[in-house]
Amino acid sequence: MNFKSIIIILTAFILQGCKEEAKSSVTDSVYAVTSEGEEIHKYTLINIKGMQMEVITMGGAIISLTAPDKEGKYEDVVLGYTTPDLYLNGNPSYFGAIIGRYGNRIAKGKFTLEDVDYQLPVNDGVNHLHGGKGFDQRIWKAEIIAEDEPSLKLSYTSVDREEGYPGNLDVTVIYTITNKNALEISYEATTDKTTIINLTQHSYFNLSGNFKTILDHSLELKADKFLPVDNTLIPTGELRSVTGTPFDFTIAKNIKEDINVHNNQLVIGKGYDHCWIFNDTVKHMKEVAGLYHKDSGRYMTVYTDQPAIQFYSGNFLDGTLKNKKEGNYENRSGLCLETQHYPDSPNQKEFPSVVLRPGEKYKTKTIYEFSVR
Ligand code: BGC
Repeated sequence: MNFKSIIIILTAFILQGCKEEAKSSVTDSVYAVTSEGEEIHKYTLINIKGMQMEVITMGGAIISLTAPDKEGKYEDVVLGYTTPDLYLNGNPSYFGAIIGRYGNRIAKGKFTLEDVDYQLPVNDGVNHLHGGKGFDQRIWKAEIIAEDEPSLKLSYTSVDREEGYPGNLDVTVIYTITNKNALEISYEATTDKTTIINLTQHSYFNLSGNFKTILDHSLELKADKFLPVDNTLIPTGELRSVTGTPFDFTIAKNIKEDINVHNNQLVIGKGYDHCWIFNDTVKHMKEVAGLYHKDSGRYMTVYTDQPAIQFYSGNFLDGTLKNKKEGNYENRSGLCLETQHYPDSPNQKEFPSVVLRPGEKYKTKTIYEFSVR
């Protein structure tokens, strides 16, 4: 055997090894059992690059998601509880969960649809937030739909009048970890009575790999306008220009830059907890946001077909929950970028409609794609 053939054989062995290592997969295990004896499953999705996501059937919550840094090191970039009990007993911070039937707030839990007045439970001061006992606290059915680009389909039927909402609503959410290191989320729903809907995902991102702070992350939002809120966090109805305000992220800016500036809206929100309206509100996929952590080099691009995004800077994290890495989750140790329709739309005639009628299909998609810079 000459030198050249040895090299060819060695290369073949090495490539074979890489191929084994880079196999994608989806595995299913029992994560916990509820007090009623129901099993909560955990699905682990791994793509060919080694990016990994763990999802549980309680709330369809993403409990971990890894992304590579500039050295190629994969680390967890979403906050989560360290034990199952908080996921099973109300998920108080909505960590990683699917949010519905109506993400964000509805003033006083009231709305009128086709001349019928509805009263939803009030669970956030005087308002209704994130669907009341919402989709984050429901057990979803799971089905593995692909392993090559690992993909998991979650389904849930929200019955007529659950949390006061009209209509039996069949919902599916598909999570895919693509081979381009993106988390794709596709939402679909149908109803048998006219209803309202605004689904979103409540992962708290921190790209540093240690979950200490998001103040050193920089954020870009393709949005010239945001919705100012009253002191119960309900939009006033005004679409305000971000120009010259701390809400201007049209050019990437460090979150810490303006978060402590004296501004009435920042006082009300205890930081950023507002909805930004994209410059392009047409329903098609577009790039809408970018989040960057310089030290690790991790970059997350957000694409969506939704008209708006709630940027919540983790203002209610108060240092009492245990950090998956070390210590506790301090104030502003994670942030949410929740693609959605405008809060309180059912009560604000000028806002785009969130009504879903029988025979129509609610269909929307958001992508969080990870890269390095
Ligand atoms: C809301 C915050 C709320 C948080 C709860 C966010 O989507 O905008 O106001 O406190 O969810 O985790």
